[in-house]
Amino acid sequence: MKTLVIGTGGREHALALALSRDPQVTEVHAAPGNPGIGAVATLHDVDALDGDAVAALAASIGADLVVVGPEAPLVAGVADAVRAAGIACFGPSREAARIEGSKAFAKQVMAGAEVPTAMAHVCETAEQVADALDAFGPPYVVKDDALAAGKGVVVTDDRQVAVDHAAACDRVVIEEFLDGPEVSLFAITDGETVLPLQPAQDFKRAYDGDGGPNTGGMGAYTPLPWAPDDLVADVCRRVLVPTVQEMARRGTPFQGLLYAGLALTSRGTRVIEFNARFGDPETQSILAMLKTPLSALLHGAATGSLAEVGLPQWEQASSVTVVVAAEGYPEAPVTGDPIDGVDAANALEGVDVIHAGTALVDGSLVTAGGRVLSVTAIGADLAEARERAYAGVDLISIRGGQHRTDIALVASQEISNPRKSDQ
Ligand code: AMP
Ligand code: GLY
Repeated sequence: MKTLVIGTGGREHALALALSRDPQVTEVHAAPGNPGIGAVATLHDVDALDGDAVAALAASIGADLVVVGPEAPLVAGVADAVRAAGIACFGPSREAARIEGSKAFAKQVMAGAEVPTAMAHVCETAEQVADALDAFGPPYVVKDDALAAGKGVVVTDDRQVAVDHAAACDRVVIEEFLDGPEVSLFAITDGETVLPLQPAQDFKRAYDGDGGPNTGGMGAYTPLPWAPDDLVADVCRRVLVPTVQEMARRGTPFQGLLYAGLALTSRGTRVIEFNARFGDPETQSILAMLKTPLSALLHGAATGSLAEVGLPQWEQASSVTVVVAAEGYPEAPVTGDPIDGVDAANALEGVDVIHAGTALVDGSLVTAGGRVLSVTAIGADLAEARERAYAGVDLISIRGGQHRTDIALVASQEISNPRKSDQ
């Protein structure tokens, strides 16, 4: 099978890497890609937001499957254009991608599917904002209704900060605060069959101890030793399947990756958000654990034959991903700094360095974005996976580079902690 991955980030590198290791895949192409993706795929230059250009590229290389990674091309209808050209495409239509593209639309779908989520008000005026903030009280949760790459959400006890964020957006969704740990649960679906992947946890805040601003994600791990045993089955039954059915009922079937961002609150599991694509950096850790050939799952979803593929199979292991970000991320990342040590880190056992914001300038690797790269490691348990991932991070040097030191720390201690059996 010839595959074409669209995008430039860590998620796309992880997808291309898994496809390059898949015995059913004969060729991996990517566009526009990045230097890491270029090591495992043939790169092509294309405007990822131009559906006709992506479809033409796919046809020219004889692609059997196009995988659209990021949300922006999906919301721009790139998957529709590829399918219109008669080529199998993994990723939802423009209409279905609105489940991520508009938080207000997602709330309507959840209401229709009776999916548990935070109570919310859509606000367009300063009066509506003030009323909603007062109705819910602190901590205030204010979300830009438009796509903002995970950075459009402000959670704060400071009412003025909440008001200012709302004033800077056209339309916001203000909602009740959800307490409890967050879980990312991804499902691959062809619009009918829903196959859940292994749950993961993402670290959204910039600094250790969940301090600092929200980011696109600073690290991730899977599996979750602390999660309830029935989590996946429960979320499938109450969230993923009803949502996929509701999308079909509305005439906008969802085909691709449905990402449920969940809060496990004291009052039960609630959906924080849906995304219409693989999450980054959770995907790096999840795909490192996948035993089923990735192409079978993606092609099955793209062609409506997912029921024949069966449930994904996983390594009996753990995986940890640590993101290395540029100086100034997320507010004002500095680019153009040299990156050293990638090859040495890649050579470590169980470790893959996944590129995101990197570029080659005169043959040297330099930073070119906020999240520069991530180090993903697999190990027998979370403690070993963590050790390996941080050993990789320690070998990489970027002037001003920053990373969290506590990715998967608490979860890795939980397994070796005898507390549970003492009780
Ligand atoms: P989102 O872009 O909707 O995923 O929001 C980004 C992050 O903001 C989430 O991962 C949460 O950490 C936080 N967040 C969003 N909505 C809520 C909420 N209702 N209550 C508490 N935290 C939230
Ligand atoms: N890891 C969060 C996201 O991809 O949106």
